[in-house]
Amino acid sequence: MGRVDGKVALVTGGGAGIGRAICLALADEGAAVAVTDVDFAASRRVAEEIEERGGRGVAWPLDVTDNDDVEAVVDGVVEKYERIDILVNNAGIAGPNRPSHEIDEDQWRRVMDVDVLGVQRCTRAVVPILRQLSGGSIVNLSSIYGIVGAPDLPPYHAAKGAVRLMTKTDALLYAADGIRVNSVHPGFVWTPLVEGLARDAGEDPDDYRDQLARRHPLGRVGDPRDVAMGVVYLASDEASFLTGSELVIDGGYTAR
Ligand SMILES: NC(=O)c1ccc[n+]([C@@H]2O[C@H](COP(=O)([O-])OP(=O)(O)OC[C@H]3O[C@@H](n4cnc5c(N)ncnc54)[C@H](O)[C@@H]3O)[C@@H](O)[C@H]2O)c1
Repeated sequence: MGRVDGKVALVTGGGAGIGRAICLALADEGAAVAVTDVDFAASRRVAEEIEERGGRGVAWPLDVTDNDDVEAVVDGVVEKYERIDILVNNAGIAGPNRPSHEIDEDQWRRVMDVDVLGVQRCTRAVVPILRQLSGGSIVNLSSIYGIVGAPDLPPYHAAKGAVRLMTKTDALLYAADGIRVNSVHPGFVWTPLVEGLARDAGEDPDDYRDQLARRHPLGRVGDPRDVAMGVVYLASDEASFLTGSELVIDGGYTAR
């Protein structure tokens, strides 16, 4: 018996990194997974991986900045599976890594559009479905950068801080509907996003990874699966008394 047997999950940004690991873990634990990503080829690869492992996964193209996409995919998933029980708002971008005064409004807005409004668009489309079913679980990917500051990625900090508190507000707003809303706060996890940060900094990837590892008391960076297993917990009925909580998966980064 899987931990999310019989449930239907929609995961954004499921084609790579943490999102891919979340899709695989939810499918391994018995959920049917709508693997969505702006990179449709990537979501198709992950859906195929799920099927090869004996699970149920279907790929959809979905850009979280596009309302029409969001509505079409939610309708499509409901048409196929007749329900959605789990929404994982995972899609996110890091945005420019420069001091605040060197970032223009369009660059700042772009990060907000994907990381903050992307969460709101998908939540808005899925809440009516969850209400009809008398409940469900929404998991929002924030970050350690939504809890503590660091001298880099200013719009990303702003966005992830917003996601942290949007989560708590939605937890309160929808508690009476049986909808649980929780955030996840990973430390640095080795994914294409973080490899991109290394590239932008002009650093050798292995050196960069070692530097990041030293910032975490457990002495390593996270693996996407470390985060995925936290999401499986929050999505499952094991977490039926959790809402508005922030699950920190950071190798001790914020414990100082
Ligand atoms: N990697 C980390 O260290 C880390 C740490 C804390 C939080 N996070 C958060 O976890 C989430 C996943 O991060 P990751 O490191 O796996 O990122 P990633 O860049 O490796 O993968 C993100 C996926 O999202 C997709 N995506 C990007 N823009 C999109 C859009 N507009 N609509 C739909 N899909 C889109 C990409 O195509 C990609 O497949 C993000 O919200 C990120 O902020 C990551």
